[in-house]
Amino acid sequence: MANWIAACAADDIDEEDVIRFDHGGRTFAIYRSPDDTFHATDGLCTHEKVHLADGLVMDDIIECPKHNGRFNYKTGEARGAPVCVNLKIYPVRREGDTILIELD
Ligand code: FES
Repeated sequence: MANWIAACAADDIDEEDVIRFDHGGRTFAIYRSPDDTFHATDGLCTHEKVHLADGLVMDDIIECPKHNGRFNYKTGEARGAPVCVNLKIYPVRREGDTILIELD
């Protein structure tokens, strides 16, 4: 069954940026792309569990703040050493000014 959770307001995230969202003892990262679409992934890097919301967004890429590993935050694909395990992604939808993510 769908489990949509309100994560933030659209204006909480600048374009080409990311914020942290904690819910139910888990942590997520919510992204706004340069072309104004919203995306969500697990909040911790798959390399050493660092918060990706402290990293840098460039186009479709989130760069981890610790060792500069890279993921495509739209697909979750690991895109640059030292990360080799993909990031879990979550469906996102926008309702007015509210950004919701679907949790499993
Ligand atoms: S902790 Fe993210 S690349 Fe190492």
